[in-house]
Amino acid sequence: MRKEFDALNRAVPHVRQLHAYVPGEQPEGFDWVKLNTNESPYSPSSTVSEAIAAELESLRLYPEPTSARLRAAIGERFDLDSRQVILGNGSDNLLDLLVRCFAGDPGVGHTVPSYSLYPVVAGMSGQGLLSVPFGREMELPIEEMAASGAPLFFLTNPNAPTGVSFGRETIEAALQSVDGLLVVDEAYIDFGGETAAPLLKEYENLVVVRTFSKSYGLAGLRVGYAMAAPGIIEMLDRVRDAYNLDRIAQAGALAAILDVADFEKKRNAIIATRERIRSSLDGLGWFTYPSAANFLFTEPRNVSGETGPEVAANLFADLRKNRILVRYFPDHPLTCSFIRVSVGTDADMDSFLTAVQSWQNHA
Ligand SMILES: Cc1ncc(COP(=O)(O)O)c(C=O)c1O
Repeated sequence: MRKEFDALNRAVPHVRQLHAYVPGEQPEGFDWVKLNTNESPYSPSSTVSEAIAAELESLRLYPEPTSARLRAAIGERFDLDSRQVILGNGSDNLLDLLVRCFAGDPGVGHTVPSYSLYPVVAGMSGQGLLSVPFGREMELPIEEMAASGAPLFFLTNPNAPTGVSFGRETIEAALQSVDGLLVVDEAYIDFGGETAAPLLKEYENLVVVRTFSKSYGLAGLRVGYAMAAPGIIEMLDRVRDAYNLDRIAQAGALAAILDVADFEKKRNAIIATRERIRSSLDGLGWFTYPSAANFLFTEPRNVSGETGPEVAANLFADLRKNRILVRYFPDHPLTCSFIRVSVGTDADMDSFLTAVQSWQNHA
């Protein structure tokens, strides 16, 4: 006999209301210039593939559950005890664990615009949201962050999608002002920002979250980490999956972090390309936020000199027709006149600039 089950109405109330995260498009095939999800255009170090290959023989065995070697390597890099480090299945995993451990009334704090996953991880745990808006200048609204009273506040530094970064003094002022835990999401910090990590020595209400997805070119491996006081890490360890990093991820990330020369070479190439493209956009008379990340947030201008949501949406669609993918965020007044362009190889960016010029000629 057939038996029906109304999944939507049988789901727990907060899941019934939840809207899943919508990631940037991941198109099939390699004939796209993919500048929409801030991945690295460069393959990881060759030592990563060697380390992964060496792991294949052991796949019948469970991984080491705590990612101990990675914790130690990261601890050493930042002069921290390994009890101050935890690994996650991507940094997204850690953002979720943080909500599960430390969120509560009146809600999870975040600035707007910033990473659109924060509302989703809040919703996944049935938590409310406290959204603190930026102004067009994108200065950190510290007083409003403190006034929110959020027990857990997510701050992206450098911010996404703008690329604007906040100096360590600003982060320190925020740490002094807020009562709750301040999670500084440093997904893009390697491209020119100033890390908050040294502040961990003094501020127990600080969590620094980072990822191997961007500057290490390992978005497909899913490895992120958080650094905080040992007591915070202990709570996060209670709620993580026992084997949240598989053997391949642990081996690959360890090889990546140890190959400093390869990391620096590729990171520096991305920064150099970013600055070249930035000055080309300046040359077109477009406003672009100063970026300390591997992307540029720029306000397109058509040939008549107009800006605005229609102009940005039109360019986005035109680029897509030419198989160039960038990101467009239509839903917020501070983002709807802009496009976000990840920094690719020099050749990728030349294709982008050529397509922009031909769009300008006919738009
Ligand atoms: C601000 C920010 N944090 C975290 C992430 C996710 O990183 P991961 O790939 O480590 O989950 C992203 C990815 O785009 C991001 O933009």
